[in-house]
Amino acid sequence: MSAAWPYPRYIAHRGAGKLAPENTLAAMRVGYAHRYRMVEFDVKLSGDGVPFLLHDDTLDRTTDGRGRADALTWAELAKLDAGSWHSAAYAGEMLPTLGAIARWSIANGVACNIEIKPCPGRERTTGAAVALDARALWRGAAIAPLLSSFSEEALAEALATAPELPRTMLFEHVPADWPQRLARLQCVALDTDYREIDPDLVAAVHAAGYKLLCYTPNDPAHAAELVRWGVDGIITDAVDAIRPV
Ligand code: G3P
Ligand code: MG
Repeated sequence: MSAAWPYPRYIAHRGAGKLAPENTLAAMRVGYAHRYRMVEFDVKLSGDGVPFLLHDDTLDRTTDGRGRADALTWAELAKLDAGSWHSAAYAGEMLPTLGAIARWSIANGVACNIEIKPCPGRERTTGAAVALDARALWRGAAIAPLLSSFSEEALAEALATAPELPRTMLFEHVPADWPQRLARLQCVALDTDYREIDPDLVAAVHAAGYKLLCYTPNDPAHAAELVRWGVDGIITDAVDAIRPV
């Protein structure tokens, strides 16, 4: 870990993987209790432009709402139950705003990887709004949030809006022209499916001057191998099995 790369290697996916309702404040607390000091979470916009946490385009899987997430205003989204789908213990858990997560993470010294996850058609608006909100929320904080996205449109807007916030490009499959893509959007890191990674990719990414992150190895042996290869960020669901060191 250097001043230029202040992020812990072990990162709790969606807060605490599957141990708590994903992308909620409760999940962040569970990840923290397992000694994780960095969290990854997914952010999109309500119909009236408020950045909040949700993975899917629709509300159906992880809330008691229905339909596209951006069909509702924040006032409507704030009434939904984002915990009962997981277990009774989390009934009544709210969808959090990015602001709520920022306050918790800064107060507890937890670094954040904000994955910009726009609803289809809202890539540019979401990239700009999330970057603007993140800049304001983390102003003066010890560690800036690391922005990431599969959407190059969203990353381009983040770059145009808040160039000082570090950016990571996500790939399901790493394309041959990844160096050009990362350079174009002035990214600091590449993030991909851990099954895409071998020692040659680690060496090439590092030789090009970037960090390498991966999602979502959940087997401690796989994670240990990736760390041996020099992977800089391990985004995992298995916060109870993979111990941060
Ligand atoms: O940010 C890495 C990882 O979260 C990407 O996949 O679908 O879990 O958001 P997903
Ligand atoms: Mg994600």
